[in-house]
Amino acid sequence: MSDSILRCRNITKSFDEGAGKVDVLKGVDFELNRGDFAAIIGNSGSGKTTLLHLLGGLDIPTSGSVEVGGKDFAKLNQKQRGDLRNQHIGFVYQFHHLLAEFSALENVAMPLLMRKSVDVKQARAQSQKILDKVGLSHRVKHKPSELSGGERQRVAIARALVTEPDCVLADEPTGNLDVHTAREIQQLMLELNESLQTSFLIVTHDLGLAGQVKRVFKMEDGTLSESDLVA
Ligand SMILES: Nc1ncnc2c1ncn2[C@@H]1O[C@H](COP(=O)(O)OP(=O)(O)OP(=O)(O)O)[C@@H](O)[C@H]1O
Ligand SMILES: [Mg+2]
Repeated sequence: MSDSILRCRNITKSFDEGAGKVDVLKGVDFELNRGDFAAIIGNSGSGKTTLLHLLGGLDIPTSGSVEVGGKDFAKLNQKQRGDLRNQHIGFVYQFHHLLAEFSALENVAMPLLMRKSVDVKQARAQSQKILDKVGLSHRVKHKPSELSGGERQRVAIARALVTEPDCVLADEPTGNLDVHTAREIQQLMLELNESLQTSFLIVTHDLGLAGQVKRVFKMEDGTLSESDLVA
């Protein structure tokens, strides 16, 4: 039985800002099931970030539907989309997007603190636990500027996982790291996928990583197709 976490059907996305209309996505179908680890590859400008933002409800498609937890993002207002995302999805941005003035622990706790019924003590405990899991027990009080690039990405991954989401969407999570650190972060995500059964969908340019994941998709000419690249 397939256990669908996230699904999009025939989505299109066009941008029309001054310079003329750009049709970025021309009918994309995709489904992420429980436990999946999927990667999207594709040339720069092919629409990978655009798709990830639509799947995470950060933006809405021009046409078509994106469903998470049985609800269509397009039918919700911005506040409701945020709540639905907070409930089901963790997002890792390419440039970590951590808040500079807050500690690692506070950054990780943020998605929990955004919920209506928050027990601050419990949020801190949960954040500490997930920071332990990503190997950062010794850095919880440090601010982002006091962390290495790899450590920052670990904090960003912990923040994405703290709400115990069904899936994590990550946009080139290792794009700015040296090869060794990139491998460590990749290994961490693969382990978390196994141990937590959280599904992952990552955008990557790293074919080494793409070779390690369960499913690989290629974005090309505005459409997404499953590739047989898996080693
Ligand atoms: N807000 C926007 N307004 C107009 N055009 C946009 C907007 N966002 C993205 N685009 C265009 O959509 C196309 C796809 O962009 P996107 O960021 O999704 O590519 P990408 O595959 O993630 O590329 P990269 O690998 O370089 O990150 C690009 O041609 C870009 O110029
Ligand atoms: Mg991108």
